[in-house]
Order: sequence, then structure tokens, then C-alpha cells
Amino acid sequence: MRLASCVLDPASVVAPVHRRTFGSFVEHMGRCVYTGLYEPGHPLADEDGFRTDVLALTRELGVTMVRYPGGNFVSGYRWEDGVGPRERRPRRRDLAWHSIETNEVGIDEFARWAGKAEVEIMYAVNLGTRGVQEALDVHEYVNHPEGTTLSELRRANGAAKPYGITMWCLGNELDGPWQTGHKTAQEYGLLAAATARALRSAEPGLELVACGSSSSSMPTFGSWETTLLEHAYDVVDYVSCHAYYEELDGDLGSFLASAADMDHFVDSVVATADAVGARRRSKKKINISFDEWNVWYLSRFQGGEPATGWPVAPRVIEDEYNVADAVVVGNLLISLLRHSDRVTAACQAQLVNVIAPIRTEPGGPAWRQTIFHPFAKTAALARGSVLRTRLDAPTYATARYGEVSLVDAVATHDAEDGDVVVFAVNRDQNDPVELTVDLHLFDGDPRLAEAWTLSDDDIRATNTLDDPDRVVPHTTSQVSVDGATLRIVLPPVSWSAIRLEVTR
Ligand code: AHR
Repeated sequence: MRLASCVLDPASVVAPVHRRTFGSFVEHMGRCVYTGLYEPGHPLADEDGFRTDVLALTRELGVTMVRYPGGNFVSGYRWEDGVGPRERRPRRRDLAWHSIETNEVGIDEFARWAGKAEVEIMYAVNLGTRGVQEALDVHEYVNHPEGTTLSELRRANGAAKPYGITMWCLGNELDGPWQTGHKTAQEYGLLAAATARALRSAEPGLELVACGSSSSSMPTFGSWETTLLEHAYDVVDYVSCHAYYEELDGDLGSFLASAADMDHFVDSVVATADAVGARRRSKKKINISFDEWNVWYLSRFQGGEPATGWPVAPRVIEDEYNVADAVVVGNLLISLLRHSDRVTAACQAQLVNVIAPIRTEPGGPAWRQTIFHPFAKTAALARGSVLRTRLDAPTYATARYGEVSLVDAVATHDAEDGDVVVFAVNRDQNDPVELTVDLHLFDGDPRLAEAWTLSDDDIRATNTLDDPDRVVPHTTSQVSVDGATLRIVLPPVSWSAIRLEVTR
């Protein structure tokens, strides 16, 4: 059997595990909101019309923060359409997804849902068709305590206390020609900086995210970040990254190595931001909010029929995920954790129905897609600090990313309770790999607490309405701890999580 190994050192810490790494994204798109999280009349809807099955699955997923309300949608959105009496709310065209927005759900409803789901809200303002004034207005509505027109409007609409939203996205993907109100880097940099300054004078403690490139393959990648940060470095805290991966042309080897691309993407944006900081002789560091990431079969969407008519909550990009997709998602989380020194917030896109871990049927059940499982286990198990995890492992050649490691892994250590958790993937399509983890640098004896593996003889197997639990993680018996050494056999195309208790 092929072998991989690493030595873990509790003193070799990357950064704390940031709870915001386990963020998600709710966009007014397709059926994410309507018949996703909100469906009055559903047998399981609560008094506010929220599906309690989706709320329960959101909590089980371990989501900590949710970006809202878009996405491409936000670049044409008027937030005030979504507040006040429902019967007076306008129906509007959503140009991003060519559908009708009924505005039945707006910020007040979403904040109520977020309270029930126990998640922080990350709010995106419209810098596509709008600007500084509208950003200030929505901030006044949601965060100003009382005594002004818009804070009193919120109170009259039933929310006596402000929502206290800390993280704000300054628009969405404005480098993309598809974006309503698409801008040059210069135009966006000036607008983002002006909006940031205004929001900061309203509330100094806000954490502000400027839009980086909508993918690392954009022609302006790198120069966009440079120009933007030359204008906004001192007034923003984060630059965003967005990345979606898919298996293209049957090239499973490259697809399974998607995290290598994410690693490179993060390293490139960090280097670009630090170069701007160095030129400015700034001590400040700009962090990364990886606020859209996932597997998305984008090529199928682009190859599809153009939208016709103006439907309400149509089925859009409801990708059905298989075992290989789940392994890639688990691996992308490994990459995000590995970069916890600079990636301090991330959102899997999206939460429900639209390229999502949770699927629903209108009037019917909700279920967990395959990608739900590595996310839920990682969010539950990753605690304390991320440890530097340098692997000695065989490599393989990929068409898209060159030579990459067959095994990828990261470990976390909770110094409080002594737990060490190893997350690992095997990208080999045919053979298992034995991973050995040396824990002799820890002060105490490791004991195996739990070990989960997600793999299947059929890597194309999916979870469906009729068979919702076809793919779930299994406890594995192919694991042992001998003295200070952990050994686990990683099946081909698999994701695993192993928790060890280290006691003196
Ligand atoms: O998540 C789907 C879309 O992907 C978002 O609306 C947009 O920001 C990105 O291009």
C-alpha cells in the first residue's frame, strides 16, 4: 500500500480556528429563499413561515455566519422594497437571474430567521446600481439604535433593537461584466473607499469586505486587487475571494486536486495585498473573506437554455452532488483551515437548493446532499488552533494543476481539552493510502475518540429525494493508535476526520 506521513507539533500553530470559516450564503436566487428557507403553508413552517426542517439542518450543518442578500442579485436590489407591510411591497424584476422578486422576505424577516438559526449576518450592500447614500441608509435601518427616521422605521416594523451587523460586503463581484453596474477597478476602488469611509464614520467598529476578483481566471485578476487596495487599503479589513470548482471533460484527477488551486489563489491574493501594504509602509494586514466557494457545475448552467419569462423562485442551478464532490468540498475546507492566518471568514455558496448542501421540495421534505457531511463534521470537530501540517506523500500529475500530493491533510488542536483532529483526503482514484501521524511531540498519550470516512464504491452516488441518506460518513475500523502514532487507511477518493484525545 502507498504511504503518507506527517509529524504534528503542538507548538507549530498557524492561527486559531476562526468560527467564521464555517459561513454560508443566502441569495435571493432560485429557490434559496422562497421554498428553501421560507415557505409559509408548508406543514413544517413556523409562525413566521420559515421551514423548521431547514432551520434544524442549518444548525446541524454548523453554519456560523450567513452572507445575505446576494450575490449578483444584490447589484440591482433596493433594500427598502423588502421592509414594511408585505401587501405594499413591490414586485420587481431581478436582472441577475431573470426572475421576479416578490420581496416577501427582506432584512427584517432574514434577521428573524438568522436569530432562529443562531447565525451571524454578513450583509452585502448594492454598489452596482447604488452608492454611498443607500449603503448608509440600510446601515441606519439595521444598526442605528433609535431616534432617526430609518431606525424608527425599523422599530415601527417590529424590531425594537438594532441588528448589530458587524461584517459588511461592499458590493458583489463588480469586476464581472455580467454584474449589473459592472465597474473598472479604478471606479470600484474609489466607490468602495468612499462607502467604507462613510460607513466607518457611522459606526467605527464595522468589518468591511471589498470585492476581490470574482475568480482567479478573470483577466483582471491581480491588477483588480492592486488598484482596489491602492484606493481602499486603509479603510477596509478584507478583500474577498470567490471560487467554484467542477469536473471538466472527465478530468477527475484535476477536479480532486481543486484545493491545490484554492491554496494558490489564497497565496496570490495575500501576496498582492501585502505588496500594496508594503508600498504604503503600512503595518496593517488585509485578510481574506472567501465568501463564495463550492463545487458548481457552472459549465452545465452556461450551456443551458437562456431564461425565458420572468418566473418567481424558479429551479436554478440545483446541482445534485456526488461522493467525489463531497471529497472536494472536504478538501476545500482543509485548504481554508490551512490558511487560517489570513482567511478569517468564508462562506460556502449557497445554503439551500441553489448549489447547496441542503435540498428541499416545495410542500415536501428537506435532505442533506453529500457535501453537507464534510462541512458538518469539520465545523463540529475543528476547534482550538490549526497546526502546521507538512505531509510526506506520493504525488500524481494533473492536467490543470501540475504535480500534486495524493493525500492532503490539516490538523487542529484544542489545548483546553487536549483534542487533536486530523482531516485528510486521498485523491487516488484506485488505491488506498495509509496515513501515519506522529504525535510524539504532544505531552500525553493519544487515544482514538472517533474516526469518520466518506467514500463509496460508486463515487458518482448521490443523495436524492427518494434515497436521501445513500451517502453518509461511516465510522471506520481501518484506524489504530499505537503509542504516539496514528495510522489510518484512506480509501480511494475519500475524505476522513479522526479525533484523538491526548491526556497526560
Ligand atoms: O452563487 C451564485 C453566484 O455566483 C452569485 O450570485 C455570484 O456572486 C457568483 O458569480
